[in-house]
Amino acid sequence: MSDDLILKGATVFDGTGAPRYRADIAVRGDRIAAIGDLADRRAKRTVDLDGLAVAPGFIDVHTHDDAALIETPRMEMKASQGVTTVICGNCGASAAPYDKTKGVGSVLRLLFKDDRLVAPTMEEFMGKVEAAGPALNSAFLVGHSTLRMSVMGDDLNRHARKDEIARMKTMLKGALDDGAIGLSSGLFYPPAMPASTEELIELVEPLGPAGAVYTAHIRDEAEKITEALEEAFAIGRAAGGRTVISHHKCNGRPNFGRSPQTLAQIEEAMRRQPIAFDVYPYTAGSTILRPEMVDRSEKVLITGSEVMPSAAGRDLDEIAAEMQMSRLEAAKRLVPGGAIYFQMHEDDVQRILSHEKAMVGSDGIPGDAHPHPRLWGTFPRVLGHYSRDLKLFSLEDAVRRMTGLSAANFGLKDRGHLRPGAFADIVVFDPATVGDTATFEKPIQPAAGIASVYVNGIAVWQSGKTTGASPGRVLRRQEQQAA
Ligand code: ZN
Ligand code: CU
Repeated sequence: MSDDLILKGATVFDGTGAPRYRADIAVRGDRIAAIGDLADRRAKRTVDLDGLAVAPGFIDVHTHDDAALIETPRMEMKASQGVTTVICGNCGASAAPYDKTKGVGSVLRLLFKDDRLVAPTMEEFMGKVEAAGPALNSAFLVGHSTLRMSVMGDDLNRHARKDEIARMKTMLKGALDDGAIGLSSGLFYPPAMPASTEELIELVEPLGPAGAVYTAHIRDEAEKITEALEEAFAIGRAAGGRTVISHHKCNGRPNFGRSPQTLAQIEEAMRRQPIAFDVYPYTAGSTILRPEMVDRSEKVLITGSEVMPSAAGRDLDEIAAEMQMSRLEAAKRLVPGGAIYFQMHEDDVQRILSHEKAMVGSDGIPGDAHPHPRLWGTFPRVLGHYSRDLKLFSLEDAVRRMTGLSAANFGLKDRGHLRPGAFADIVVFDPATVGDTATFEKPIQPAAGIASVYVNGIAVWQSGKTTGASPGRVLRRQEQQAA
């Protein structure tokens, strides 16, 4: 039997962090068939790479791509970066399971504008994703805020009652049975802010026994970050499985320089329980437009506003000057919308990113009119700017943080590594030119240096554009764990 594809003369970055080596890679069906000197083997197609880098397809561990997989199934913003798997439903906001009769409000509205993009069960939602034929693989978390809104409706300004927690738990269990890989919470966001630690401690109980993860956008990434991290660890202990601290950062001027302390706190907790964390490579964050956040920021850019669509892409101070009001007043006028907040110090970003346990996640928001550049630039920026140019870590190590480490932390079977038998999720790139081109001014731009991207053995991105193929699969927890 011949191979379907041979990538000849590759410089292999295998995803473990091991030193690069020169080899040929054979793909048969959806798997890697062999790696080595394959001069004697025949294939339907052979591509001479002449030393280009080949790595496992990148795993974007922190996304809000639930709806994008259905609305824009070619997933250009991620495929163009070499991403082959996206983990959705982060920050407490998932598209399922959600009772649509409650209407699509607040946080959910930013992500899932349309009723068609949410579903009452995870199984139904996964079916919609599969029917859309996405280019990339996807795995889904259940959002705590989604459960809360589904069970409590608009009456969110309080702790959930015992019976409500029980209903949320039933929904969570159902979604885990359907193949969700865990639960996310966003205690920083209004629908979940009033939730007590005890509410979560009670809710997360099904996670550990199912081998599912708990991901946390913690309650406070600013002055109270120490307490907020402890809260997430406590919830994680109750879950009994792995806790992932999402987009770790030290937010706001008073907290610049605190990352040695927060990383030490995380390391200390890692000795007692399984903990992981991810980070995006920028000093600005992005989320819904929240007036209380604008005065804490060095600068604010609007990513979209329902009442003033022309504000998208503009500096809030400029808009405020035109409107002859304060930044805060202007922000209040533009709600509901989205914004980019410059709130971190570069030293903290670099320190967190270079921690050996740091995974890379984009946290991109695909529905924004003028998105944060992380949506199109995260992975190439780490490879090009931070690894090659600033030499924060080797290219081998950069790849490990996007592949092997991520697959291990999220329990994705046979992905994140280049080895015979693994799925043929593969990115081919040029280490000399790989880099982000998306900027805060022009955020929608494919990266440089990404030559081709394969998902389950099929090319999805080639010569700077999508191939139109739809080999992406929904990665259900049960199938991942049968390792
Ligand atoms: Zn978040
Ligand atoms: Cu997020």
